[in-house]
Amino acid sequence: MDKFRITGGRPLKGRVSISGAKNSALPCMAAALLTSETITLHNLPYVRDIITQRRLLEDLGGTVLTPELRTHKINASHVEVFEAPYELVKTMRASVLALGPLLARFGKAKVSLPGGCAIGMRPIDLHLAGFEKFGAEVKLEAGNVVAYAPPEGRLRGAEIHFEKVTVTGTENLMLAATLARGRSVLHNAACEPEVADLADLLNKMGARVIGAGTPTIQIQGVESLGGAQHTIIPDRIETGTFIAAAALTGGALEIKDCYPGHLSTVIEKLREIGVEIEELNPTTLEVSCRGRLSASNMTTQPYPGFPTDMQAQYMVLMTQAEGVSVIDETIFENRFMHGSELQRMGAKIFVNGRSATVSGPSALTGAPVLASDLRASASLVLAGLVASGETLIDRVYHIDRGYEKIEVKLRQLGADIERVREPVAVPALQPLPG
Ligand code: UD1
Repeated sequence: MDKFRITGGRPLKGRVSISGAKNSALPCMAAALLTSETITLHNLPYVRDIITQRRLLEDLGGTVLTPELRTHKINASHVEVFEAPYELVKTMRASVLALGPLLARFGKAKVSLPGGCAIGMRPIDLHLAGFEKFGAEVKLEAGNVVAYAPPEGRLRGAEIHFEKVTVTGTENLMLAATLARGRSVLHNAACEPEVADLADLLNKMGARVIGAGTPTIQIQGVESLGGAQHTIIPDRIETGTFIAAAALTGGALEIKDCYPGHLSTVIEKLREIGVEIEELNPTTLEVSCRGRLSASNMTTQPYPGFPTDMQAQYMVLMTQAEGVSVIDETIFENRFMHGSELQRMGAKIFVNGRSATVSGPSALTGAPVLASDLRASASLVLAGLVASGETLIDRVYHIDRGYEKIEVKLRQLGADIERVREPVAVPALQPLPG
């Protein structure tokens, strides 16, 4: 298991390029299952989850060519298996996104139930209720979801009212509805830019989706979908993480290849606490922070609210801000695991259920810490950059799932960070008998 060793205290300076959004790339890759023609995706981030999703597509019988590092040409004309096994789903919940396309195109799908994870229960009941509304028969068998289209072999369009906003739930049902008979309407749909990006790809494939990016999405089902080319949008969470890194280290960064419009709420909030953020052009931000940060309360919300995926990074900012702030997590029930690790580095954080109170500023000191999930590990990297002395972050495989070469990008900006590879233990040779 790799670790990161960080010696903090260096201001980050220079220019960094933002990678494609993992959370958009994953559903777009799943969309390739909807057609026998080739889907070409550009600007895929080079991260572990993309490799996992590729493996899933290949296990199902698809072929994936990589003419360039960030381009995949996916062809699912020979799908022979309709199953996402537990080994894959347990490492990446987004593999449940295979369910909608398989069910819509082949009329059957079997996907292992993801179960809980470090940040909470995370059920997929709303996905399944939606498929039932589309006429599917959905059963739970030995830890798997097994779903069949109605006897006529094709899903039926329906009106779905999500009782809770769900990002992958919206995407899964949108994927399924593209090939359903008739019209579907998704009410209280997730408005995340990644949902709109998926709809863009689907429309290029010949789907008829309107309203993605708003709470009401209408989908007119079509008989079949064809090939398309699509460029994945920039990762708004990586963008936000680099803004936080610049602010925390008192540095000055030019962040390019991003869409500031996708993180307006984050930019507004960070400006409010004292970060200087200027939009140089529609894809470039200039970030610096000369004065002290000031504390401000924050509540996570579905898009366009402040994203839960930036909550851990915001908490680190608050450890360096003047005053007391209250952070309320409304999306996931257990997403403050980083709080106790940050406390070990000297932060003053009090967690009570879904609410955390941070008193700042505190001088952080380096310590050995443990990453518990993707965004929690990003927050520990940020804390390490600002702490005095050495921080050793264990289990960085979490960060490799969603951040492309973060240590390389940070080192190019002047950070003192290195990946420490654990030697693989080789069992000692036993002397042969006799
Ligand atoms: C997606 C993102 C993740 C982000 C999250 C919230 C991807 C691959 N992942 O995760 O990075 O943190 O959105 O912005 O895009 N829920 C149910 N029943 C369901 C589905 C969801 O109760 O059937 C609940 C969840 O437990 C959670 C809330 O709804 O409390 C939101 O979850 P959801 O939006 O579905 O998260 P993901 O799509 O898994």
